[in-house]
Amino acid sequence: MTTTSAPSLTQRPTWQALQTHFVEIKDRHLRDLFAEDDHRGERFAVEDVGLYLDYSKNRVTAETIRLLIELAEDCSLRERIEAMFRGETINVTEHRSVLHVALRATRDEVFEVDGKNVVPEVHAVLDKMADFADRVRRGEWKGYTGRPIRAVVNIGIGGSDLGPVMAYEALKYYSDREITFRFVSNVDSTDFAEATRDLDPAETLFIISSKTFTTLETMTNAQTARDWSLRTLKDDQAVARHFVAVSTNAEEVSKFGIDTANMFEFWDWVGGRYSMDAAIGLSIMVAVGPDNFRSMLAGYHAMDLHFRTTPFERNLPVLMGLLTVWYNNFFDAQTVGVMPYEQYLKRFPAYLQQLTMESNGKHITLDGRLVDYQTGPIFWGEPGTNGQHSFYQLIHQGTKLIPCDFIGFMQTLNPIRDHHDLLMANVFAQTEALAFGKTADEVRAEGTPGWLVPHRTFEGNRPTNTILAERLTPEVLGSLIALYEHSVFTQGTIWNIDSFDQWGVELGKVLAKRIIPELEGRDEVPLSHDSSTNTLIKRYRAHRADTT
Ligand code: F6P
Repeated sequence: MTTTSAPSLTQRPTWQALQTHFVEIKDRHLRDLFAEDDHRGERFAVEDVGLYLDYSKNRVTAETIRLLIELAEDCSLRERIEAMFRGETINVTEHRSVLHVALRATRDEVFEVDGKNVVPEVHAVLDKMADFADRVRRGEWKGYTGRPIRAVVNIGIGGSDLGPVMAYEALKYYSDREITFRFVSNVDSTDFAEATRDLDPAETLFIISSKTFTTLETMTNAQTARDWSLRTLKDDQAVARHFVAVSTNAEEVSKFGIDTANMFEFWDWVGGRYSMDAAIGLSIMVAVGPDNFRSMLAGYHAMDLHFRTTPFERNLPVLMGLLTVWYNNFFDAQTVGVMPYEQYLKRFPAYLQQLTMESNGKHITLDGRLVDYQTGPIFWGEPGTNGQHSFYQLIHQGTKLIPCDFIGFMQTLNPIRDHHDLLMANVFAQTEALAFGKTADEVRAEGTPGWLVPHRTFEGNRPTNTILAERLTPEVLGSLIALYEHSVFTQGTIWNIDSFDQWGVELGKVLAKRIIPELEGRDEVPLSHDSSTNTLIKRYRAHRADTT
């Protein structure tokens, strides 16, 4: 295990070398960097696993990349990657292995947790999922009244929702349009009500997805789903035909009333936000079929191999992770924008928010010290071109530096007239405009009156990555997700934090549990919070409608 008490990150000579280099380079403009090297656009680009990454429009030189890689080596990135792949307990605060890479291993590979090869279990669950998915898709899995399933509702939250929704949307083109798919996550009853209002309980299957099977939102929605089904089906026996579970917790699944024969298992060495390629992806598999799901896993796996074996200077996730560190820690950038120019990827930024921010939103190092540097930036984004007509103004001319990832495809899955050329023209135009801007002289030369010139000037020097793939296939989606997973790992390694725990979500959960009886008990339950919380609760109590 590599959790030794290393020197603080900022004391490392490799960090200080970057600090010195930053002072030299921070005012250099991308216009000059491109002018100095006619081949920069080709030199600062890497292609592998079906993805082409152009990182030339970043505020870096070859020396920056060299120094960043030196930092990565100094922070034992190579050893940390191996430790992850070897199944070491690199999630130190939960004392767990981190082996999502085993979820996409081929049948003949070996990944061990505590000396046991987990790959056979992974494939046994995948085979069980495939069998189930095929039966639902072929109409062989009948509901309680003998009718086939026409609607699948995944109930889960966080990693048990965001991955399935994102991938369902991303792969909709490949999905069975005869079955309706819905996703319920929020404990807000509106989410459940709207998702089920037009569904027939006799034809609806619920997948209750929860690693722990104790999450308040999911358990509340699952109970509501049970009531909703049984109101029509009127027999507890119907639960077995209309409810399946995805979980690591067989005991709780059983207590809920779901037969564990209808449970799809995964393991504590799979983090919630890394679990859509495990059984948590069951709804995706039902939607797109086992073959497409396996293609997606093959895409992940190809990126895993790339990450593990490719030298850092050509390693896509390593380069992307190090660039994030570069802007986050040296340019003090607070956020990263992710702009997929592909409508099917509309939920990708939301998915990435959990992956990146629940992983790297930490302020204590692996050896228990308070960091004296910035860790995980805020990730956000919207599909192009919509963002251009909304927040891009700030990226182009605001006072904040926002590095952005632009994601585009050579071919659309829905060719209509010249839409795709127009879409991609915008990818190239935006990254060009962000990098090169428009000088005051250029604006003046267009005849702009002097007073308007500063308003119409674009400073440029705004960094972007461009990620291109041929078309959005299940494989490419898998590779793209793994690219970000491993980029997050690279960042977490540099920051020396545990990217696989999430203690920061606990306090709110505990306090909510304490407040629930206070709301339901009205004035009989005394309040002992601060004066703000007490007043808010009293106000709510006075006006709440009792629906329990
Ligand atoms: O509250 C955060 C979290 O623990 C996430 O990490 C996880 O993905 C989500 O809740 C859901 O947890 P579960 O799958 O156990 O219901």
